[in-house]
Formats: sequence, C-alpha cells, structure tokens
Amino acid sequence: MCGIFAYLNYLTPKSRLEVLDLLVTGLKRLEYRGYDSTGVAIDSPDSKNIVMVKRTGKVKVLEDAILEHFSGGEYSEPVMTHIGIAHTRWATHGVPCERNSHPHRSDEGNGFVVVHNGIITNYNDVKTFLAKRGYEFESDTDTEVFAKLVHHLWKTHPTYSFRELVEQAILQVEGAFAIAVKSKHFPGECVASRRSSPLLVGIKTKTRLATDHIPILYGKDDKKLTSDQDIRPHGQTRELPVLPRSDSTSEFMPLEEKEVEYFFASDASAVIEHTNRVIYLEDDDVAAVRDGTLSIHRLKKSLDDPHAREITTLKMEIQQIMKGNYDYFMQKEIFEQPDSVVNTMRGRVRFDGNAIVLGGIKDYIPEIKRCRRLMLIGCGTSYHSAVATRQLLEELTELPVMVELASDFLDRNTPIFRDDVCFFISQSGETADTLMALRYCKQRGALIVGITNTVGSSICRESHCGVHINAGPEIGVASTKAYTSQFISLVMFALVMSEDRLSLQQRRLEILQALSNLADQIREVLKLDSKVQELAKDLYQHKSLLIMGRGYNFATCLEGALKVKELTYMHSEGIMAGELKHGPLALVDGSMPVLMIVLRDPVYVKCMNALQQVTSRKGCPVIICEEGDEETKAFSSRHLEIPRTVDCLQGILTVIPMQLLSYHIAVLRGCDVDCPRNLAKSVTVE
Ligand code: M6R
Repeated sequence: MCGIFAYLNYLTPKSRLEVLDLLVTGLKRLEYRGYDSTGVAIDSPDSKNIVMVKRTGKVKVLEDAILEHFSGGEYSEPVMTHIGIAHTRWATHGVPCERNSHPHRSDEGNGFVVVHNGIITNYNDVKTFLAKRGYEFESDTDTEVFAKLVHHLWKTHPTYSFRELVEQAILQVEGAFAIAVKSKHFPGECVASRRSSPLLVGIKTKTRLATDHIPILYGKDDKKLTSDQDIRPHGQTRELPVLPRSDSTSEFMPLEEKEVEYFFASDASAVIEHTNRVIYLEDDDVAAVRDGTLSIHRLKKSLDDPHAREITTLKMEIQQIMKGNYDYFMQKEIFEQPDSVVNTMRGRVRFDGNAIVLGGIKDYIPEIKRCRRLMLIGCGTSYHSAVATRQLLEELTELPVMVELASDFLDRNTPIFRDDVCFFISQSGETADTLMALRYCKQRGALIVGITNTVGSSICRESHCGVHINAGPEIGVASTKAYTSQFISLVMFALVMSEDRLSLQQRRLEILQALSNLADQIREVLKLDSKVQELAKDLYQHKSLLIMGRGYNFATCLEGALKVKELTYMHSEGIMAGELKHGPLALVDGSMPVLMIVLRDPVYVKCMNALQQVTSRKGCPVIICEEGDEETKAFSSRHLEIPRTVDCLQGILTVIPMQLLSYHIAVLRGCDVDCPRNLAKSVTVE
C-alpha cells in the first residue's frame, strides 16, 4: 500500500545519478506495494533547490524519465551529503496521475517535500485550516496537507528544528501514515515517522556499529500534549497551539562513525542489498538524521516505553528477493513450496520423536488450553488458511473455533472475552483490518497470537506470542507459498495442542507421517505444470470459472477462485459443493467452465453426488482427484491427479494446481502476474 524509500549519504560521496539509481532500485523492490504512479525528489545541482520527477505507471516509466531528465554532467558530480526520497503509489485519494503522485510539496519553491504511505483521515480539516491561511492545493491527495502543514509551522515557528516541525505536524494529523520528509531549508537532513504503517531505517557504516541500539529521546512535558486545542476537532480553524518541544538540547550521538548511509523504507526488501542492520520504528517514533547522526524521539513517554530501539540484523538473503530464472515472482514462489513448507517445519517438528515445539507460543500453551474458544482472524488468502485448518483445529483442540474475516469482525463489534484466544494471520503482518481487529481484541483482554511471515511487522510486535511461518519473502501480490506455510503453522499448532491426548495419538501420527512426505508430494504436484498450462489454454478465453468442493477442500475452492479473480480478472467463485442444489446449480450448463475437487476422504460420496449433479446438467468439469482413482476420472476427460495424503493436508496439494492454473491463465490473457490491476501486496489502509 504505497512504498516509501529514502536514502541519505553522509560524508559518503555519491553523485546524484548514483542516488537516483539507488532510489529507483529501492522503488523496484517496493513496487509490489503499489504501482499506479511513482516519483523521486533530489537536490538540484546547486543544492539550493529540490528537483522532482513523477510519472504515472510503474517504476520502469519513472526510470526512463529519469534517464531522459538527468543526463547532464552536473548530475554526475559527487556530493558528500545528500538526501533523496522516493515513492511508489497505490492510489487511495485521487486517481493515479502525475499531479497526485508523491512526493508532494509545501509550496511552489519546493520548501518541504513529503512521501507518505497510509491515509490521513482528518485531511479535510487540515486542508480547510491551511486554505484559510492562503495555501492552495494542487492534488487530490491527503498527503499534500502534510507538506503544507509543515511549511505553515515553519513560517509560524521559525526557530524550530526540522524534526520539531515534523513532530508538531504529526500531532495534528489522524489516521495511518509512514512519512519521510526532505527540505531545502534543512539540507542534508531527513525526518521520518510512522503511525500504523510500517517504516524501518537501514544503517550502513564502513565498520561495524559501536552500538546495537539507539536511545529514544522523550519530550520533557508530556501532559500538555493531550491538548485538544489543535486543528483536529472537525472544522475548527483556530491557530495552532505551540506544543511543548521535545528534548532538543541533548541530541544524542549514538553512532560514532563519521561516514554513514541511511535508508528509510517501507520494508526490508528495499534495504537488504545495502545493509542488514535495521531499526523497525514504532508508532509515533520520529527518526531524524542531522549531521549524519540518527536520533529517535517520542513526544510522550508512558510507563512501559523502552529506553532504546534495537538495531536488528536481518536474516534475509538478497537472492530471496530476486526472480532468478523465473519469469515472475509468483511463479518462483509457487515452485519454492517444497522448500518453504520444510522451512516452516524446520527446528519445530521432530519426525523421529513425533514431537513438535513451537518456541514462540510454548509458554502460552497451558493458557490456550484453558480458553473459551479460538478465533482465527485474517483477510483474503490468510483468512482462507484459517478456513482450511478449522476442522482439524476443532478435532485436535476440542475447542470451538471461529473463523473471521477481519473487516466483517470489526463491522460487527464482535463480543470478545478475556478467556478468548485470538489468532491473527497475515503474510505481511501489516494488513490494516487485521491489525485493527488485533487491537480490538487486545483491548478486551484476549490472548493475541500472531501468525505472520514478516519479522518485525506490526502484528508480530503487537501480539503476545506467535509463530513466524518462515516462508521467506513473498513478493508476488498473489499469495502462494505464504498460504501453504500458514496452513502448516496452524496444523502444527493443532498437533501441539493434542500432544497429551491419548485418544488422538493415532491421528497425530498419521498427520506427522503425512507432513514428512509433504515436500516430495508437492514436487510431484508441481510436475503437473505443463498439463495445467494446457488446461489454461482451454479456459483462458472464458468469462467465468466455478470451483467446487467441500470438507477439507472447500478452502481450496475459495483460494483458487481468489487467485483466478485477482490474477486473470475473470469471474470465479468457490462453491461449497453441498450448496450446489441450493442455487449455484442454475449456473451449470454445457458451456460453463467448472472445476471440481473430488478426493477419497470422508466426504467423497457427497462430492460424487455433486459431480453427478453437474454432469447430468451437461457440465464437463475438470476434476482434481487422487492418483489412480479410475472411478472418479471416468466422469471427465480432463483431470489432474494428485498424490494421496491424509485428509487434513489435502488442501495443500489441491491448492497448487489452482495456483498454477491462475498463473497460466493470467499469462495467456496478457495480465501482469506480479502486479494485478488495482491491487497491492500489503493493504495498510482499512
Ligand atoms: O498480508 P496479509 O496476509 O494480511 O494480506 C491479506 C490479503 O490482502 C492477501 O492475502 C490477499 O488476499 C492476497 N493478495 C491474495 O492473493
């Protein structure tokens, strides 16, 4: 949901062309977050002004424009200290166009320029306030008000430092944001902050850092900060109060190194090729770099606030975020699944001793066992992983299990109790609806368990405990390997919960045995690729695809249909086969493409009934069935055979043909596989 990237080199000579190259590369890594339009801001050759280039479309369009715009020799001169900011946008306020692209500026002279991820919900109030003071707006965005607000504060409080100006501005805005601000009035400085949208700072020095944390500086007087005499009350436009300044007399110098480079980015994939040392900012942190020194400030201190932000060493490898020999990230990620599922189990499942340890939640297991119910909450694919594992969780935990879409859960103000255990499932760990639902449950005293793929994400940090699914970076907007790893994480949790239940031991052994074969079986399923590609040729010109199944495979129907919709823009529906005769059967005729999942499990007979209903209406379904199941295959000339596994893990094997099918249909339809229209990978707005 928009990608922010900023780069500051201090006493590290870099030409503006090199800086631009760095900015564009950073944006390419973040492109999955939004790709409607892009922009960069750097210093002009005389360093007195700020130059911006913006383009509608993907980063490549911006890159071409930059090559055209900055060919002059003056841009090849090295500069010792410089700050450049960049942005790739997923439009929320205003259509994708250059006018609405970031960076947004404070005034015609480009005094302050801002890149932003998130939504400033009170932007209309701020806009009215500023308009009354003569500010004219040139975009339809919420972001522009921030640049102009900082400018207004600068004019009214000329003694304030850059960091203090930004601090005062963020006190006036509501909603979600990660921002990075550059100013021609404060050359060589950068100020960044976040609230509910992710932001990290990468640090690169020639020698190893002398410290592994950056102390936090707190404002001296936090009581007055709850002032309501600001512009937030709707429609009021009185003058801004002068709020207390934070401790500006004791700038801490945490990094002794002189030459230093800083990277501000929405996520780690944009910085890993430069440094593996990062600080994940927390909500309302204000990170400021001045004279090469990074300091982190907060205006208020509450009792449990820490004294410092830790510098984390990223475990990610650069290869993980490259496409390698694949055409698309999604394709690569589908084919990584034999390894990613093993990584999810690595160090956790001991197949020889039939033991499972989930280090991130083991201390909480007794509490979880005493709970009233389990709630699994997520959006999109993450929600489907909950649907996929619900039945097994009910069976092995013997607890009521509720599965919720985060948005609907919040709309309903669902009752939550202190003895509920709430799981928040999210690849990115930043999905706004899921995060809001997490906070809602946390406030009500429930135990919060995060299931995420992104170390350091908001959901990780705000959970009481959790499981990292360890699928590795997932860059394609369509989620694939994260789904199978979320699935396995929840299965492992079910196994942990049933460890001491004698009556369930046989079942546990059967599942553990199946888990040990899973990687090889996924490899087998991936061999269907060319067959699926042929099938895609039959289907890609159709308008619709119905996907039917039930029991453990209903989740695959939902997930398969979501993949088809988001990648191919075809209509697709996941249909519970038991519901067929209650309505959807009316859609079936000889021309409607149908795919049915019919496996030898407890609902096999019922699935066969559905298959007969479909064929007797002249439907010609594609069937996903078990290897060698001649009886089922006899119902259609088109089938995909998958290896036999335990019922509760079938969904991992059946979803892979659906991932491949949606991928091939998308390629045949000429769709942008990794960047489907109107979507973004990380949905950090509600
Ligand atoms: O990062 P999250 O898992 O929280 O994201 C939730 C959904 O936005 C996501 O799964 C989405 O449905 C995928 N793009 C589907 O492929």
